Amino acid sequence: MIQSRKPGPVDFLKEHHAQIDGEIAKFEESLRELRYSGGGTLPRHIRQLRQAMELFYLRLSRHVALEEQVFFPFMEKYVPRFEPMISFFKSEHESLRKNHEAVASSLKRFSRGRPDLNAGRELERLRGTATYLIYLLRNHAKVEDESIYKSANRDLNADEKAELARRIRDYQYS
Ligand SMILES: [Fe+2]
Ligand SMILES: [Fe+2]
Repeated sequence: MIQSRKPGPVDFLKEHHAQIDGEIAKFEESLRELRYSGGGTLPRHIRQLRQAMELFYLRLSRHVALEEQVFFPFMEKYVPRFEPMISFFKSEHESLRKNHEAVASSLKRFSRGRPDLNAGRELERLRGTATYLIYLLRNHAKVEDESIYKSANRDLNADEKAELARRIRDYQYS
């Protein structure tokens, strides 16, 4: 008989990862389009890229806040061996924030159309920082999935899981 597993509290967080990944795919697509844009289409492509980035970053910021304010403190309490890993994840959150800022300010320079702008070189830099941000984010989500998310399913008992699910729900709707 096939047993259907009851959804656990981390399924909700995993769903966030999947949604963020969907948004990143759109961002990646806009980045690809930028490669083929000529002088006339550049402003439109920059605008698209900016919108795509804002969408995924908004989703990501909410997810990071939920992890740092609810999920990580809960895991630190019930599975203390994860403490060092959690510090590492937090430092990655900080790197994600800094890289997002770098991409955002590069995009802003394009939007303002500064006359002294060396467009070719700036475009290269933008592609580089944006590609790195995508890499960082995908890698971060993958490592979380394979370590702390797995542990939450495996190491928490039924009561702890129910409590974590309740806290996540409360946080989402507060
Ligand atoms: Fe995270
Ligand atoms: Fe995450």
